[in-house]
Amino acid sequence: MPTEMTAYAIEEYGDPDVFEETTVEVPEPGPNEIRVEVVASSLNPVDYKIRQGAIPDFAPEFPAILHCDVAGVVDAVGDGVEQFEEGDEVYGMPGGAGRQGALADYVVGHAGTFAHAPESIPLEDSAALPVVALTAWEMLADKSTVDVGDEVLVYGGAGGVGHIGVQLADWFGADVTATGSSEANRELAAELGADATVDYTETDVETYVDEHASGGGFDVVFDPVGDEHLETAFQAVRPFGSVVTTESSAAQDLDLAPMHANSLELGVVLVILPVLLGDRQDRIGEELEDIATLVDKGAIEPHIDDRYSFDEVAEVHRRGEEGDFRGKLLLVNE
Ligand SMILES: NC(=O)c1ccc[n+]([C@@H]2O[C@H](COP(=O)([O-])OP(=O)(O)OC[C@H]3O[C@@H](n4cnc5c(N)ncnc54)[C@H](OP(=O)(O)O)[C@@H]3O)[C@@H](O)[C@H]2O)c1
Repeated sequence: MPTEMTAYAIEEYGDPDVFEETTVEVPEPGPNEIRVEVVASSLNPVDYKIRQGAIPDFAPEFPAILHCDVAGVVDAVGDGVEQFEEGDEVYGMPGGAGRQGALADYVVGHAGTFAHAPESIPLEDSAALPVVALTAWEMLADKSTVDVGDEVLVYGGAGGVGHIGVQLADWFGADVTATGSSEANRELAAELGADATVDYTETDVETYVDEHASGGGFDVVFDPVGDEHLETAFQAVRPFGSVVTTESSAAQDLDLAPMHANSLELGVVLVILPVLLGDRQDRIGEELEDIATLVDKGAIEPHIDDRYSFDEVAEVHRRGEEGDFRGKLLLVNE
């Protein structure tokens, strides 16, 4: 067993070139933790927001090994871990925010932040799922409920969270309308199960509500984008309906008057919270076990736009920040 490993870390906040390939000690798992030999990770906006210094409260200690998503093989288990043994193929969200993350040969995390990986897709592809699938799951199965025939509006239907949101809402039997700013984005959302798509840059909210929602608005509006989308969400939802969002704009300067006027529900997800708190981690693993089952049933699959090696992380961050991709960008530990 090597005592040292390669990691891609930042010593300070900055642009994508701030990543440095470095050699650090292989971490040891403590009680209730496992060590995973990393096969792959993927990019989420939280990774580049941490790198930029935009959310310092989420940053691991410097030198900070970033990236929340991981897929790999269990290599060591700490005291008290019963659900995993050496050699298990797992995926999870062990760190990258709050504690050291996945851009390294090994990552150590609380066992509750992992689950057995789906069996029907390559192990490396499952690294595209944890953050986005957990988020979409919590938005549609925890903060709201979606029944057969419900009309669901998914903003950003080709984005990381949105492309899983479209598939999950479709699996729950909803009538799904997805937005996208480009034809390619709308095409992907339609391929993944959206019954209708909307170019919100050309169509105002009254028009697409009239066209695609029957009860004066959508039953559920799924917003992983925030800002002006969250404002239009309150116009697009029907009276007594639900808006679910990931965005902190919900907590800052949101006018709650439209919620009162239409007796709405608002659900806000912060998926990484158990890792930041170091508490209730099992919630992550339990949800990931359910998500793996859905993947194996063919209900959801990650759309991987492109694959890169870990030493190309700067390019991946640049592309992510430019928004020039659909679904997910994968990082493979070659
Ligand atoms: N709170 C949480 O727990 C949580 C969890 C996961 C993600 N998030 C947040 O949710 C957001 C979406 O995450 P994601 O993984 O889906 O991101 P993503 O893969 O980058 O997708 C974002 C989508 O949003 C749309 N969009 C609209 N305006 C945009 C803009 N100004 N810049 C970039 N995209 C814009 C784009 O679609 P169109 O251009 O087609 O509209 C894009 O496909 C991020 O802010 C992320 O930090 C929060």
